[in-house]
Amino acid sequence: MNILLFGPNGSGKGTQGAILQKKFNIQHIESGVIFRDNISQGTELGSKAKQYIDRGELAPDDITIPMILERLQQPDCSPGWLLDGFPRNVNQAVQLDAALNEAGMKLDYVIEIVLDRQMAKNRIMGRRLCVSDNNHPNNIFIDAIKPAQKGGNSVCRVCGGELKTRSGDQDEIAIDKRHAIYYDKKNGTLAAVNYFKEKAKNAGSGFIVIELDGRPGVKEVSEEVLKSIGK
Ligand code: CO
Repeated sequence: MNILLFGPNGSGKGTQGAILQKKFNIQHIESGVIFRDNISQGTELGSKAKQYIDRGELAPDDITIPMILERLQQPDCSPGWLLDGFPRNVNQAVQLDAALNEAGMKLDYVIEIVLDRQMAKNRIMGRRLCVSDNNHPNNIFIDAIKPAQKGGNSVCRVCGGELKTRSGDQDEIAIDKRHAIYYDKKNGTLAAVNYFKEKAKNAGSGFIVIELDGRPGVKEVSEEVLKSIGK
């Protein structure tokens, strides 16, 4: 089973990806990891990409697409893969689609976690980390995991311990920059999602687009996706 997973930063995409990986025993492939691995291993494509990155530029698609395709063709991906974080724009969507076809690789599902921009931003900025245990999720904007109150302070809802924020989660400029790319319906990631939605309408496209409401909790969203896949 081969899946493309879309969702804005803050939509819980990584968590859902991990659940799908486990459930279907497929590889969860994050585009950022492919990049880092190619660069650290000094592959031909990695060295080319590094020249751009060292200049503060993004690597062009004619380097990125073959890098991703190569990863998806590794033996560990033969039971299936779930690609997360790519394509980020409509050009990449068109090129990835063509490259998959050329390689004879079939797409089964395109999953989109739908969450509006303000809510996605709140969810990032509302994250609170439990100082004593990483596995105690707290978020001031998600009712199900709201921190507890003790003596006028917010404390971990699981253990009552101290909470902190991660600096990256409070970097509004960085969040807005990522979201500007994601929510761009003309050229950005939502345009890429739309490319696949339009394509899925054609008979014989061979894949299904699943739109998920990202507003409920992790558990509800994952139940919804498993129900849609129906396995
Ligand atoms: Co805790």
